[in-house]
Amino acid sequence: MVSLSPRRLVSAARRRVRPPAAEPVVPSAEPTPEQRRRERRRRLRAMSLTELAEEFGTDKWGVHRYTPHYQRHLEHLRRREFTLLEIGVGGYTRRKRSGASLKMWRWFFPRATIVGLDIEDKSFIDQGPIVTYRGDQTDPDVFRRIFEERGVPMVVVDDGSHVPAHVRETFAIVFPLLPDGAIYCIEDTQTSYWPAWGGQLDPRARGTSMDMVKDLVDGLNHEELLVEGYEPSYTDTHVRAVHCYHNLVVIEKGENREGTNRDASAGHFHGTSPDPAAPGGSDPSGATSGVTS
Ligand SMILES: C[S@@+](CC[C@H](N)C(=O)[O-])C[C@H]1O[C@@H](n2cnc3c(N)ncnc32)[C@H](O)[C@@H]1O
Repeated sequence: MVSLSPRRLVSAARRRVRPPAAEPVVPSAEPTPEQRRRERRRRLRAMSLTELAEEFGTDKWGVHRYTPHYQRHLEHLRRREFTLLEIGVGGYTRRKRSGASLKMWRWFFPRATIVGLDIEDKSFIDQGPIVTYRGDQTDPDVFRRIFEERGVPMVVVDDGSHVPAHVRETFAIVFPLLPDGAIYCIEDTQTSYWPAWGGQLDPRARGTSMDMVKDLVDGLNHEELLVEGYEPSYTDTHVRAVHCYHNLVVIEKGENREGTNRDASAGHFHGTSPDPAAPGGSDPSGATSGVTS
């Protein structure tokens, strides 16, 4: 028998009780490019419109506060197949920033065809469901071509020149071509009040974008008018709702013939407050009144 010195005995024991070998370190699996793309698509599809606006850098949120209004008015189309047309692609000479809102729409409406119209060539952003056309927003032919090739849109967004005369002309060309249920949006209506953009200092001046919108609002009540021989206009009978927000207007197309509330009493005042039609009746002080109780 071999006798070991105490020192050797200890080192022999150490050799025997070796700690178990560490688990081999598996390098954490890097996602493949395809997995990364899938994850990004999943993330984008789950975003609100405001989050998408921030993601792609459109001023529809931030500079403006349009996206929550759009989300409310357009949510019902989110999973539908339809065509959205936006006039004004943006980016000007900055290619990288071009088409920010088209990209936002593309992810909010994953089944829609997203069409951009711009006076500049923006074809470099055409990809997947995004397609652009070059043309002037006051040219009826370009809209006819788009509608033939891409389908008549359910949603139109005018974010083009913002010159009131153009805004009005575009609306006159495009709105009658849209189906019932369509939604027509006009952005940046503040130019109505800016002479440098073709607007007017007087907020009640005729010929601005907001002046056109106010006419549409009156048209909602066209069946109540007492104007002798009044002929309803196309928009009187085809605008179902007008929603006005700060610098943004959302117009719903649909039949507007609910029937009148007007009856024989419409011409005679039956209220208990001063008769507004009587001499001095509309005097806010109520000093004179033609009404006797
Ligand atoms: C405010 S930018 C659009 C921004 C974009 N919609 C967004 O939210 O990211 C306006 C665009 O309208 C285009 N535009 C200006 N005048 C136009 C016209 N008469 N017809 C069509 N597009 C026009 C400009 O070239 C510019 O790209």
